Amino acid sequence: MMNRQVEIIEVGPRDGFQNLKEYIPAAEKIRIIEELIGAGVRHMQITSFVSPAAIPQLRDGREVAAAVLEKHPDLDLFALVPNFRGAQNAWETGLRKVTNVISLSSAHNMANIRRTHDQSFAELEKITAALPELNACLDIATAFGCPFQGKQREVEPLLAFERRAYDLGVRTFNLCDTVGMADPRQVREFITATRETFPDVRIEIHIHDTRGLGVACTLAGIEAGADGVQSTLGGLGGCPFAPGASGNTSTEDLVFMLEEMGYDTGIDFRKILSAAKREFKCIDGNYSGANIRVANTIDELAEAPCIH
Ligand code: COA
Ligand code: ZN
Repeated sequence: MMNRQVEIIEVGPRDGFQNLKEYIPAAEKIRIIEELIGAGVRHMQITSFVSPAAIPQLRDGREVAAAVLEKHPDLDLFALVPNFRGAQNAWETGLRKVTNVISLSSAHNMANIRRTHDQSFAELEKITAALPELNACLDIATAFGCPFQGKQREVEPLLAFERRAYDLGVRTFNLCDTVGMADPRQVREFITATRETFPDVRIEIHIHDTRGLGVACTLAGIEAGADGVQSTLGGLGGCPFAPGASGNTSTEDLVFMLEEMGYDTGIDFRKILSAAKREFKCIDGNYSGANIRVANTIDELAEAPCIH
């Protein structure tokens, strides 16, 4: 029988905010996180612990994480880190899960975190060795394609890359389509190959909606057996170190589609939509969501049909 549960992982407080020039005060970030939790979100990347020179917007990572953790110790909350220093800061703030980002494309890895693959894997090794109680996951940026090196058409380089992390003890791989180059067939193939090669690994996907394929690729991922799918409120997002990066797959669009299809996301569509609309109105940015631009939900249309 079809598995009707889908785990949606909200990453807007990191991927959505990191690209915004104008600083959003920590209190406002926390308010949006609370609204997401109020709508039913249970899995969330709440910030990153990176160099404030690289991402000034998230310089308040400690403050935001500490406040949210204190109020919601029972939720699955985590942060992105680029190196050991970030993992240590996250651990000291009370987080027990991080995702270490390394790009499959060496050119993007250099642009994003200024490290070679060997240097990045050495950092990951340091994290798993020094912080054994920390759940260190891997974000595989540019898993499907890279703005510098083009589309990733072969799956073998991904599997070899995953093997390096697997051998360090990492058991969660998040395949990220950093600039939106994936297609549904490729998503299916990459997830299936990862599953066959590493049967005990948790697989997530993270798709940007640059060419309108965010929801299609994410659905392909779910149907291919991904354990979790990432998205952002409003589809706000983009990597500042990837030319052409645009918004993410939007959480409310995903919730809408999946609930209509009979899946259980645990997220209330009306509540998440109103949170997205509020953010769209108040914070200037790159939003890829569709429902935020529609005046009524389908239910509201049925309640008050507009007859011409
Ligand atoms: N948190 C906070 N500060 C950090 C840090 C971290 N995780 N890692 C390094 N720093 C600080 C260093 O202490 C140093 O500070 P100083 O100049 O005051 O001495 C400065 O950042 C530079 O350190 P260095 O190790 O030389 O880093 P770098 O300049 O080579 O930059 C990264 C490497 C990884 C720290 C930086 O590129 C980065 O944070 N990138 C994140 C990119 C990102 O978030 N992209 C989007 C998400 S995919
Ligand atoms: Zn992203």
